[in-house]
Amino acid sequence: MSILITGGAGYVGGAVVDHLIEQDENVVVVDNLSRTPDSGLPDGVPFYQADIGDREAIAGIVRDHSVDACLHFAGLIAVGESVEQPGLYFEQNVSQTIALFDVLTTGGVDNVVFSSSAAVYGEPDQIPIPEDHPHRPTSPYGSTKSIVEQILTQYDLTGMIRSVSLRYFNAAGAAPGRSERHVPETHLIPLAIDAALGLRDPLTVFGTDYDTPDGTAVRDYVHVVDLADAHFRALDHLRSDGATDVFNLGNGEGYSVMQVIESVSRVAGREVPFILGDRRAGDPPVLVASADRAQQTLGWVPEHPELDDIVSSAWDSRSPA
Ligand SMILES: NC(=O)c1ccc[n+]([C@@H]2O[C@H](COP(=O)([O-])OP(=O)(O)OC[C@H]3O[C@@H](n4cnc5c(N)ncnc54)[C@H](O)[C@@H]3O)[C@@H](O)[C@H]2O)c1
Repeated sequence: MSILITGGAGYVGGAVVDHLIEQDENVVVVDNLSRTPDSGLPDGVPFYQADIGDREAIAGIVRDHSVDACLHFAGLIAVGESVEQPGLYFEQNVSQTIALFDVLTTGGVDNVVFSSSAAVYGEPDQIPIPEDHPHRPTSPYGSTKSIVEQILTQYDLTGMIRSVSLRYFNAAGAAPGRSERHVPETHLIPLAIDAALGLRDPLTVFGTDYDTPDGTAVRDYVHVVDLADAHFRALDHLRSDGATDVFNLGNGEGYSVMQVIESVSRVAGREVPFILGDRRAGDPPVLVASADRAQQTLGWVPEHPELDDIVSSAWDSRSPA
């Protein structure tokens, strides 16, 4: 039996592939390589370049690899782009996911772990945010995650799919032998590192008038290695007949954009050049997780919660040797 990893050529999916292989799991990866430079997979991992909405391709993979579970990472991930091109996000993240789930159920695949996001909450009423906080996404991207979670709730009621939706806060850091390499890169830590290395223009700090201690947006950064561990635990939960559920994945600690820039400067031993810019549409001021439920139900305790440790792993993966 194999686990189908959609988006396994990407940043989080790739780290999870490595972790599952270490756990002696069989995996098969599908990715259309639209947002990552290449598959980046270890030798011997079966890889198919295809859209998740390509029913024929996915049905063949499910059949040929005896797939019995799916970890679904594939999708478009940029809040700003989703505000500019909502149709693209609804098509890629929702329509194609609907096709994927239909093919999975036809093929008898009944366990799914879904990469959801803190973006489902929008501007939260309380910090840290618990899982039962209402969904009020402020971007098409966040809306796509909320819609797919609702679809999975209905699949659970039909008895066709049990699922775990993992709402990551800000995935960050680097897994051993890997680095963050989105195409295009939009995430703060790699952009700050590349700016410090002189590999790109100065970083833009989007928004300096938020109601936060230094006026810049506050986020909860969670190490990608800890995310990989959470996925394995989620899979174990489903295999042990655990119920469909949703879990926040974060450290419960918020850092502002300026604090991240300071951390990168500290770790890199050089200044991060930056300019101040306007707020971006769809960006809430503060997102910090309550991850108590993941700890209680999955036994998930992040092993790398310190921001400087997260930044150090990212720095080591990007800086010249
Ligand atoms: N990185 C974060 O901080 C973060 C936070 C919350 C949620 N998430 C979610 O986690 C998942 C993985 O994020 P990531 O940072 O690894 O992004 P990523 O862009 O590195 O990985 C996504 C992969 O999916 C592929 N892909 C996109 N659309 C596809 C399609 N229609 N068919 C096949 N492949 C497709 C891309 O080529 C890419 O390799 C995404 O669903 C994202 O929304 C990420």
